[in-house]
Amino acid sequence: MTVNHGVIGSSPIRDAFLIINNKFVNFIDTNYWLVMVKLLKHKIKKQSFLIQIMELNNAIKSRHSVRKFKEKKPDWRDIIECIDFARYAPMAGNNFTLKFIIVDEKEKIENIANACQQKFVGEAKYIVVVCSNSSRLVNAYGEKGEKFNKQQVGAAIENFLLKIEEKKLATCWVGYFAEEQIKQILKISENTEIEALFPIGYELEKSYVKREKADIDSILYFNEFKKKRMKEPHHVD
Ligand SMILES: Cc1cc2nc3c(=O)[nH]c(=O)nc-3n(C[C@H](O)[C@H](O)[C@H](O)COP(=O)(O)O)c2cc1C
Repeated sequence: MTVNHGVIGSSPIRDAFLIINNKFVNFIDTNYWLVMVKLLKHKIKKQSFLIQIMELNNAIKSRHSVRKFKEKKPDWRDIIECIDFARYAPMAGNNFTLKFIIVDEKEKIENIANACQQKFVGEAKYIVVVCSNSSRLVNAYGEKGEKFNKQQVGAAIENFLLKIEEKKLATCWVGYFAEEQIKQILKISENTEIEALFPIGYELEKSYVKREKADIDSILYFNEFKKKRMKEPHHVD
């Protein structure tokens, strides 16, 4: 029996796969034990290879907002790596409209926290400030430009958040802040909008309150708005 392992794609967020007896077996299970059961089925010893269990599922499902941080300061290079992943998000006309400012000066962090009126923001060692300028999109797409900009900012931020999760860093999306105040602190130009702030640190143990997520049934329709069934029930006379 030949056993191979590998990863798909160049990103560290990736699928796991095995090639067993030249047959491609894709492990889409995030559940460790399900993967182990599959291995047993194929009579493969756990120790015989390294498994990359689908990290994307884990990153999406385990991401959560953190508002209490450890004293330990993260490595700024890790934060840059997370920002780097934002670049791969889809962009209307491939126009990247975002800028990221990493802030680590204590006084600025305190002033930003005041502008947010949220104490925990001031307790982070870094704040990543996400800005955007929609003018190129508005030039290209008229009034749709603003909407496109908001959508692609969200897409880029989600990439950033998933990478933060993968690197075991912690953050919370902060959307409530006095924009003009922060613009002054960071010397942000008139035509640039502040989209969101992300205080970054390491999560303080046991600080996380798990939030209920919307039920799939409550968000999904088929073929028309509010139609909740894929197929009409079959009537038997
Ligand atoms: C657009 C936006 C703005 C938000 N603004 C704030 C904020 O100002 N302060 C805060 O503590 N959390 C803020 N949050 C975080 C949400 O409260 C949080 O994502 C939500 O409660 C779900 O929890 P989870 O992130 O752990 O899944 C914001 C989230 C989004 C998407």
